[in-house]
Amino acid sequence: MKLRKAVIPVAGLGTRFLPATKTVPKELLPIVDIPSIQYVVQEAVDAGIQEIIFVTGRGKDSIEDHFDEAPELEQVLAERGQTENIEMLRRIAEMTEVVSVRQKKPLGLGHAVLCARDLVGDEPFAVMLADDLIDSDTPCIRQLLDIFEDKKESVIALMEVLPEEVQQYGVIKGKEIEKRLYQIQATVEKPPAKEAPSRMAIIGRYILRPEIFSILQKQPPGRGGEIQLTDGLAQLVRERQVFGCQFLGDRYDIGDKFGFVRATVAYALKRPDLKTKVKDYLKSVVH
Ligand code: UTP
Repeated sequence: MKLRKAVIPVAGLGTRFLPATKTVPKELLPIVDIPSIQYVVQEAVDAGIQEIIFVTGRGKDSIEDHFDEAPELEQVLAERGQTENIEMLRRIAEMTEVVSVRQKKPLGLGHAVLCARDLVGDEPFAVMLADDLIDSDTPCIRQLLDIFEDKKESVIALMEVLPEEVQQYGVIKGKEIEKRLYQIQATVEKPPAKEAPSRMAIIGRYILRPEIFSILQKQPPGRGGEIQLTDGLAQLVRERQVFGCQFLGDRYDIGDKFGFVRATVAYALKRPDLKTKVKDYLKSVVH
């Protein structure tokens, strides 16, 4: 059973990044000069996923446009002799097959995933949150896929966080059955540090079996009046085996302002054209 499709929900309002997100989708805010969503799509492509399903909302059409051809722009670039830029734009347009579905109201992440039901069909699929950028040798979603291909059950990405951070995450109760591989027994949403069953937090990469759709369909709104994916996962754990993958890589929460700044610095430091200048600048700022 080959996994072919990744759902990327991008229908959120991005209120933490207002006023930037008044007219620009947060997924198009660049980390240096590449829109963050492009990194996430690249991760899926590198993992061998063939089709991207965006769950979009009002004002988010430009995300699809980013992965489409741009003949007018190419024409102007051709007149200016900018062949490298033309090639770059073509590579982006040819990266992958993109389809989209609208979430008419932002009723929650679980609801956004449910909106992709008809496009996914009755097969396992990936869910990738564009707020999480993961820099790793093996794409994070590939690390999950390797487990899925072995177990044929849902797999979610896990990261160990500090005790004082557990209350910001969905956290698992589970057993480490192999190095970095967990059998999940329960999930708890944003527990106080004292009550947390572990420090293993759920990060925005999932491989889900299609049974999640009927669970989400029946699910009443949870925290914040939204249909939460974590509540759906909690039910999935009761019905089937679910595994957790403590992935290898550095994760940046770019839905958060400080996380966005960290990612910008870290990605700039990886760029041959910027590395030295940024390093020198950071040193001078610290002094
Ligand atoms: P967030 O909780 O970060 O919400 O959503 P948000 O609207 O994107 O950002 P803030 O908190 O207001 O700044 C997590 C992910 O779920 C998607 C978002 O696009 C984001 O990728 N999402 C959330 C939806 O697609 N639909 C929803 O109804 C809610």
